[in-house]
Amino acid sequence: MSEYKEESRRLWNANPCGGRGGGLDDIEYATLDYFRAVRYRRYEVSDPWIRKTIDFNAARGKRLLEIGFGIGTDLLSFCEGGAEVHGIDITDEHFRLAKRNFELHGRRAELNLCDAACIEFPSGYFDFVYSLGVLHHTPDTVRCVSEAYRVLKPGGRLILGVYHTFSAFHLVNLLLYNGLIKGKLRRLGYRGLLSTVERGADGMSVAPLVKTYGKRQLRHILSDFSTVEIKIAHFRRDHVPYVGRFIPVSWEEVLGTRVGWYLVAFAAK
Ligand SMILES: C[S@@+](CC[C@H](N)C(=O)[O-])C[C@H]1O[C@@H](n2cnc3c(N)ncnc32)[C@H](O)[C@@H]1O
Repeated sequence: MSEYKEESRRLWNANPCGGRGGGLDDIEYATLDYFRAVRYRRYEVSDPWIRKTIDFNAARGKRLLEIGFGIGTDLLSFCEGGAEVHGIDITDEHFRLAKRNFELHGRRAELNLCDAACIEFPSGYFDFVYSLGVLHHTPDTVRCVSEAYRVLKPGGRLILGVYHTFSAFHLVNLLLYNGLIKGKLRRLGYRGLLSTVERGADGMSVAPLVKTYGKRQLRHILSDFSTVEIKIAHFRRDHVPYVGRFIPVSWEEVLGTRVGWYLVAFAAK
């Protein structure tokens, strides 16, 4: 496995998604209450755009693969929405936590430790492939997308979420504020600075690979698919330091569709 992928595994083994803090401190780790609280925080507090953008009932009665399932929050939602769910990830701690998450909810998923660049399923096996916040962390994104294409049935659907280059968070918060005004660009370089968007990364000793994409670039990567629609999502006022507090909260959703931090592609094979 490449050094980049080892770095990803090290980061998420030490700092699994969900984490601590933000109201979770009083809840015993990896219990049903913990997983419920992580899920509530994700869908209702930190990332309500996910539920508004992704239809977790869309794969009812279908076979779905999630690439990079983390602790299994979204995969569980697809499962509850009636899909037969499978998942792959490269991080052992995420594998352990996601298994526990499903067990505690009394749900079934087939989870495997497996690299998205070499998916251990036959061609044409899945109706849906879903991956959110994963393939911008891997050096071989194009190869992973062609693997996703391979394992989809003809007419099968891919939902792929990656970080957006032309977002307020990237351009204003990260590059202008943290990079230039706070001087992190000089200290860490662009790659190091970008890696600090992940919890637990300092951009020097811990610097996982993070990439961003423009719409045109993402369309190009998905050019084998017969149809591709790309949505932009996820803007919060704190993505714009100082000035953001003057932006009405009610504008967040509409600004998300223009300068949000995620590009989400909906593609059909
Ligand atoms: C930021 S987490 C996102 C997890 C989950 N999708 C979510 O939204 O909470 C990135 C995940 O991708 C996984 N990952 C990174 N590169 C991968 C690869 N090449 N193949 C499979 N999983 C990968 C990591 O182990 C980690 O679990």
